[in-house]
Amino acid sequence: MLPDSIDTTLTQLAAQQYFADRETATVLYLALRMQRPLFLEGEPGVGKTALAQAMAAMLGTRLLRLQCYEGLDAASALYEWDYPRQIMALRLAEARGERPGEQSLYRDEFLLKRPLLEALLPDPAAPGVPRVLLIDEIDRADEPFEAFLLEVLSEYQVSIPEIGVLRAERPPLIVITSNRTREVHDALKRRCLYQWMGYPDRQRELQIVAARAPEAAAALQRQAVDFIHRLRGIDLFKAPGIAEAIDWSRALAALGVTELDPQSVRDTLGVLLKYQDDLARADGPTIAELLAGPTPA
Ligand SMILES: Nc1ncnc2c1ncn2[C@@H]1O[C@H](COP(=O)(O)OP(=O)(O)OP(=O)(O)O)[C@@H](O)[C@H]1O
Ligand SMILES: [Mg+2]
Repeated sequence: MLPDSIDTTLTQLAAQQYFADRETATVLYLALRMQRPLFLEGEPGVGKTALAQAMAAMLGTRLLRLQCYEGLDAASALYEWDYPRQIMALRLAEARGERPGEQSLYRDEFLLKRPLLEALLPDPAAPGVPRVLLIDEIDRADEPFEAFLLEVLSEYQVSIPEIGVLRAERPPLIVITSNRTREVHDALKRRCLYQWMGYPDRQRELQIVAARAPEAAAALQRQAVDFIHRLRGIDLFKAPGIAEAIDWSRALAALGVTELDPQSVRDTLGVLLKYQDDLARADGPTIAELLAGPTPA
């Protein structure tokens, strides 16, 4: 169901175990109301992809996902014709002594719909609800793809030469994410509502860890979140995200740890930090200092 306020957006997301801050819930609510795409940028592992997943679950529709990569082209994003099946149909028809016209070969059943096209069509399993399309990591795609995307986004329609123009009856909710490996064009951003997603405050991260790593004892969850907050304060190449906070709490619980101590932190540091330089920086006396540090805000 479509949320009717920012508060219901927050509650409905929480029901999917996604805990958003008010700012994010506001921009999401507006994206739904104003039928505008949502552009999310932020550090890795802060819940950009998970937000789109939670949104689709909240609306009761299957998430359509387009993972971007270098060389992604319009055909793989939009549609392709199923040539092997078309040829098979042609041969079968010929075997029956028929001569099928071109039209019978360019039918819906031979159209392989890719996420971008599917997003323009209604979800048979969820009538009356907008489709949710995640265009993940747009910064990995090439610029021509971005230009093509802009075209689709401005019209919510595509033209298939053999069929005609397909126009969305209801614009899908489109979530575009970027990890900022390059800047995305202003023209694309201008069409979207923008949200920068940073690390959550202590309270919200604790809520997330409690929901996603319930096997960890409450005191351990608290200590882990506090430690991570302090760890984010030191100069690291890649600070741990929310994903790492969850993983770490689960790892500690799996090892039977009920309270953090320098040894258990050292043994599991690889769950938090994935670069040798960062590991070296955090190890040794730093662990003890971080463990003893003041409670973060
Ligand atoms: N606000 C949140 N509430 C609940 N769980 C969250 C939240 N944010 C992140 N998570 C959890 O953290 C995991 C990682 O988040 P996600 O993969 O969405 O990050 P991301 O920003 O897309 O990262 P990347 O840039 O690496 O793709 C999710 O699987 C989810 O379990
Ligand atoms: Mg992601």
